[in-house]
Amino acid sequence: MLFAGIDIQKPSALAPLAGWTDIAFRRLCKEKGADILYTEMASADGIIRDQHKTLDYIKFSEQEKPLGVQLFGAEADVLAKAAEIVSRSNPTFIDINFGCPARKVVKRGAGSSLMKDLAGIAEIARAVSRATHLPVTAKIRSGWDEIVAVETAKALQDNGIAMICVHPRTQKMQFKGQADWELIARVKQQVTIPVIGNGDIKTAADAKRMYETTGCDGIMIGRAARGNPWIFQQVANQVHNKGDSVIPGLEERIETCTRHLQLAQEIYGSERAALIMRKHIALYLKGLPKATELRVKIFTLTSVQEVNETLMQYLYTFSTN
Ligand SMILES: Cc1cc2nc3c(=O)[nH]c(=O)nc-3n(C[C@H](O)[C@H](O)[C@H](O)COP(=O)(O)O)c2cc1C
Repeated sequence: MLFAGIDIQKPSALAPLAGWTDIAFRRLCKEKGADILYTEMASADGIIRDQHKTLDYIKFSEQEKPLGVQLFGAEADVLAKAAEIVSRSNPTFIDINFGCPARKVVKRGAGSSLMKDLAGIAEIARAVSRATHLPVTAKIRSGWDEIVAVETAKALQDNGIAMICVHPRTQKMQFKGQADWELIARVKQQVTIPVIGNGDIKTAADAKRMYETTGCDGIMIGRAARGNPWIFQQVANQVHNKGDSVIPGLEERIETCTRHLQLAQEIYGSERAALIMRKHIALYLKGLPKATELRVKIFTLTSVQEVNETLMQYLYTFSTN
């Protein structure tokens, strides 16, 4: 697929995941084979008001490109102004969130609540595309409760959107039930811009099946990448027929965990990184021998150095080499 002047065949994207996909995790996923990255959603309102916390969400490093900065908001002019500001830091693209089902977002008329308002979506797409020199993309759900993804995708394409990601669940479904991949296929048939399929990819085999059953141009992985960044290499091997998949053993898990800690320390400093990393570490350790004891110990530690030492002792005790 050709996007933003870059030719990537069957790219895998790391989904935007609020609270998870910070610079450290994005860089790690890139090292493990993710082709496209997104920042987590940032409030357009917060950006134009110069709110520090929001501005932190849209920071990225050059190594992460191709990367999109994702914005959410309700008003076209606010989103356009935010896009103008974000464009100065020159990400690869700007993504608009039309999918978030969270109460605090939809009650402000943003995220998936916009899927009740096709004219509003078109107006936002037009305004944001005009406000920036960068490609503008969109991430949508199936709809609010009615399924409107196909007409929404067409309206987005007609109003300047360069790529669309479809997570085929309605707002009402939140994260329950099954993603309806058939809807991704229907969107793909009706637009000419690249379509990224998203929802319920848990393994490389799922990614291959998504390509085969939907004809999508790329895939996006969210929840299954947490504690499991190897999934990107596994998907690449599977879809490009590059041989056997990498199945991470204990050593690889601990090494990846320490690499992630190092990336987090570069951004947050030792103490904050040790705290922020707890949720990631718990997932890296899942299924390993004595994982619970190790996790409980690590959750008492307050510096990256202490966590690293503990992981090294563990590796020394349990490594098979
Ligand atoms: C904790 C969490 C945070 C999320 N944050 C965002 C976000 O900031 N922006 C967005 O477009 N989607 C967000 N999503 C939705 C995911 O990007 C993705 O569409 C969804 O999880 C389905 O993909 P998956 O089955 O691969 O996880 C979030 C999902 C979760 C579970």
